[in-house]
Amino acid sequence: MNTKALQGQVALVTGASSGIGKAIAIAFAEAGAKVGVNYRSSAEDAEQIVSGIREKGGEAVALQANVAKEDQVQRLFSELIETYGTIDILVNNAGLQKDANFIDMSLEDWQLVIDVNLTGQFLCAREAAKEFIRRGVVEERSCAAGKIICISSVHEKIPWATHANYAASKGGINMLMRTIAQELAPHKIRVNSIAPGAIKTPINRQDWENEEAKAELLNLIPYQRIGKPEDVARMAVWLASDDSDYVVGETLFIDGGMMLYPGFAEG
Ligand SMILES: NC(=O)c1ccc[n+]([C@@H]2O[C@H](COP(=O)([O-])OP(=O)(O)OC[C@H]3O[C@@H](n4cnc5c(N)ncnc54)[C@H](OP(=O)(O)O)[C@@H]3O)[C@@H](O)[C@H]2O)c1
Repeated sequence: MNTKALQGQVALVTGASSGIGKAIAIAFAEAGAKVGVNYRSSAEDAEQIVSGIREKGGEAVALQANVAKEDQVQRLFSELIETYGTIDILVNNAGLQKDANFIDMSLEDWQLVIDVNLTGQFLCAREAAKEFIRRGVVEERSCAAGKIICISSVHEKIPWATHANYAASKGGINMLMRTIAQELAPHKIRVNSIAPGAIKTPINRQDWENEEAKAELLNLIPYQRIGKPEDVARMAVWLASDDSDYVVGETLFIDGGMMLYPGFAEG
C-alpha cells in the first residue's frame, strides 16, 4: 500500500478523541492528510492527539462539536474549511451506547443514541457532500471529489438484545450509506461503511476488562482475538485512498469472523 496514500488531503474524523476515531486520525496523519480531530467533551484528549501528530511532523487541529446538533455541525465544517481550505474525506465515527432491557428503555436514551449515531452521520455527510460538489475533483490529490466513510457495526446486521437503540441506529446507517452512495456517485463521491466487530476501546470496557467477560466475548470471535483500533484504522486509510477507487456503497466488515455465526461451528 502507498504509505502516503492521503498526501495533501483534508480529513475530518468525528469522535476522534478516543478509541477507533483516535486511531483513524493518527493513521490518516501518518498517510499525509491534514486532520480535523473532532470531539464533544474530551478537549484534553483531543489536544493530546493533535500534539502527538504535530510532533511527528503531521498537521491536525482539534475541533469541538456535538454531531447531533445541526448548528454545531455547520460551525465544525466552517472551522475546518477556514483552517485547511476544503475537505476531501469525512469519517463519520462519533457514536455511543445507552443500553437497557427493551421494556425499560427510556425515550430519552432511545433518542440520544439515534441523534448521535444516525442523525449525526446524516448532518456531517450532508455538509461534506456540499463542499465536495462545490469543489469537484482535484486530480493532484485524488481521483474522487470526496470520500465518506460511515463507521457502522456488525450490529447493522446482528440483532443485539438490550441494545435496541444502538442496533437500530447502525441498521439505519446501512440504508443511509447505500442511498447517499447511489445519489452522490455521479458527482465522483464515494460513500462506504466500515462495520467493526469487537474492538478494544472504552465503549465496551465491560466486555474485556475481566477474564470471564473476555472469554465469553472470544466465543463470538473465530479468529480468537479482540480487535485493535489500529486494525480499523488501516482499513480506513485504504478506503479513503485511491487504492479503493472502485469501491462504492459497500459495507466492509472487520470482525475476526464474528459474522460467521460461530455458534454453529460445531455443526
Ligand atoms: N469498539 C467497538 O467494539 C465498536 C464496534 C463496532 C462499532 N463501533 C463504533 O465505532 C465508533 C467509535 O467507537 P469507539 O469504540 O471508538 O468508542 P469511544 O472510545 O467511546 O469513542 C467515542 C467517541 O465519540 C465521541 N462522541 C460521542 N458523542 C459525540 C457527539 N455527540 N458528538 C461528537 N463526538 C461524540 C466521543 O467524544 P467525547 O469523549 O469528547 O464525548 C469519543 O471521541 C462508534 O460509532 C461505535 O458505534 C465500535
